[in-house]
Amino acid sequence: MPITFEEKTKQFYISTDNTTYIIELLDGKIPVHRYWGNTLKNMPSIENTNADFNTIYCIENTENPSALSTGTLPLEYGIYGTGDMREPAVSVQLADGSFTLEPEYLSHKIYKGKRSINGLPSSYAVNDDATTLELTLADKASNINIILYYTVFEEYDIITRSTKIVNLSEKPIDIKRISSACVDFYDSSLEIVHLPGSWARERHIERSKPNHGIMRFDSKRGASGHCENPFIAMCEPNATETNGDVYAMNLVYSGNFEIVAELDPFNTLRTLIGINSFNFSWKLNPNEEFASPETVMTYSSKGFGDMSRNLHNFYRNRLCRGKYQHSARPVLINNWEATYFDFNEEKILAIAEKAKEVGIDMLVLDDGWFGKRNNDDSSLGDWYSNKEKLPNGLAGLGKKLNGLGMKFGVWFEPEMVSPDSDLYKIHPDWCIHIDGRTPHLGRNQLVLDLSRIEVCDYIIGFLTETLSNAPISYVKWDMNRYISDISSTELSHRYMLGLYSVLEAVTSKFPDVLFEGCAGGGGRFDPGMLYYFPQIWCSDDTDAVERLYIQYGTSFAYPTCTMGSHISACPNHQIGRTTPFSMRGNVAMSGQFGYELDLSTLTVDEIKTAKEQVAFYKAHRETIQFGDMFRLSSPFESNIASWQYISKDKNEVVAFFFTITGKANTLHKMIKLQGLETDCNYKCAENGKIYSGAYLMQFGLPAFQNADYISNIIVLKKEI
Ligand code: GLA
Repeated sequence: MPITFEEKTKQFYISTDNTTYIIELLDGKIPVHRYWGNTLKNMPSIENTNADFNTIYCIENTENPSALSTGTLPLEYGIYGTGDMREPAVSVQLADGSFTLEPEYLSHKIYKGKRSINGLPSSYAVNDDATTLELTLADKASNINIILYYTVFEEYDIITRSTKIVNLSEKPIDIKRISSACVDFYDSSLEIVHLPGSWARERHIERSKPNHGIMRFDSKRGASGHCENPFIAMCEPNATETNGDVYAMNLVYSGNFEIVAELDPFNTLRTLIGINSFNFSWKLNPNEEFASPETVMTYSSKGFGDMSRNLHNFYRNRLCRGKYQHSARPVLINNWEATYFDFNEEKILAIAEKAKEVGIDMLVLDDGWFGKRNNDDSSLGDWYSNKEKLPNGLAGLGKKLNGLGMKFGVWFEPEMVSPDSDLYKIHPDWCIHIDGRTPHLGRNQLVLDLSRIEVCDYIIGFLTETLSNAPISYVKWDMNRYISDISSTELSHRYMLGLYSVLEAVTSKFPDVLFEGCAGGGGRFDPGMLYYFPQIWCSDDTDAVERLYIQYGTSFAYPTCTMGSHISACPNHQIGRTTPFSMRGNVAMSGQFGYELDLSTLTVDEIKTAKEQVAFYKAHRETIQFGDMFRLSSPFESNIASWQYISKDKNEVVAFFFTITGKANTLHKMIKLQGLETDCNYKCAENGKIYSGAYLMQFGLPAFQNADYISNIIVLKKEI
């Protein structure tokens, strides 16, 4: 069994194929975190290591003064009030105004499979390939139970955690914080990696050594946001892509989140992850329960590369769902950077005809097709075709595109309303606002209050009607502002519950439609969204160089098949840089490939290259989208970015090399491949040369660095 309980030592062993996580019940009561790392079959029980936890000035246990204080123990779920003075994993205000809980072991259950979390996205078992531990703790004085859930997916080296609070008392309580997971790393010298950024600069990599005290990464934006990601990794100081201890935690949630890391005076590093406790409070009435989102956790002693592959594999197979989970996605052309709001049916069909010639599968009609929208200051909410631009409506355009042999995709921003819209005139109170105050605009728009059932029903209604009445195969679901004017401590989470219910309804009504998430680019690129949308527009920044950083950082947690990536025009619209068409293609092909420019402006040579790009991508996309990714050279650390994919059958290798800035008078830089079979030979598709796996991994392939923006793709086939 991957989860066992040893009665003698009062220890739970939670084991994946390569790792073990151990919890011990101190005195049979308090869950203490003992171990997380490579497989460990025996751990001495805590009595033998008392000396480690004896400190002066601790709060004593009155009934048993010689008992260990919770103040210095690595706890499984930190609780404030009885001696643990660190950031608590949970904070509950009881009806008498007090905050103290003393939860002790009540019972546990171990079972095959995994239960879903009511109303929230979460990973799932297939054929009961997971095992779950439910550890129930009870605070006898208040009658509040805390249930800690652990699910182990052995073959993925993944453990997921979540928490539930159950109010069995006769009075309401207020939950102020409920972490999804808490991990106390004993005697830590770990460093911390997180993924900060901003709009058009998402998920860069930052690594630092924590000082004593508290570090905090969060979002108060109503979305997981561009500026932080609900991901954290703790690593040994010498950890690299291929070596060293790395522990990752990633929250399956798309709203306000917090990650708190506290290095205490005794060098225990406590890490908490969950819904943001900032301005959060949830009233829990008698007999009600509250479930936290899920956290996905993985450990590897083989560095960041292995950590990422564990997460990629898990998200592709046990989080993403639907028709496109495992199938190749269409290559698309999106008209946004080609036309912005200035288009009509004729122009769109002209782009589509060119796209067809290039081999592109689908045209996506972006913003501006509805209401009277000719710029971003009106019409969100009025989801009916603009007859001046589309005289035959979405249905007519879709039919013509299908006639050309192209699929049809459409942009929506369902969570928003423009003050200048019919919807706002009819329902001015549907936007998020505070009574007596004028709500604040972002991109000239307001956010609909998805905590209200009638608003959710309206969104489900218009989407159902639009998707039923036109041949739409793809939806780009956008969200172009953060949420302000929050009127209650429950609203932000209730909004997320409303949004998730809408996404569940719409995606299950239209199982054949491919949904791509978007929030001003990558403002909601998180595991919560991946449960509904198998791909997400990675960033509004389409510059090839900027994208190297964004896609490299994104790949720390998320697989290539989830990253929307397009070739756009030069000079680039976000940063004004001009890069070669081939480099733009090679960057975009390291994701869900598409185009976002006016194809009719391309030169004859560029059209020829575009045809080759589409053909190449289709021939190798299975490996790129669903193979194992190895990062070979970081743009954050050198002038070369490089990564490689190996097909699941291990027979095909596709390696990408990009030189960002060239250097005069230099030799080639040798880039060592990874993950090959040392004793096998690999044939280069381009020049027919045969290399051994050992050579490729120990000596490497050359990356040219004598000019800016050189890029190259090498395909190698294993000789069988
Ligand atoms: C957001 C998206 C873009 C585009 C525009 C349309 O910024 O990220 O791709 O769809 O909205 O307004």
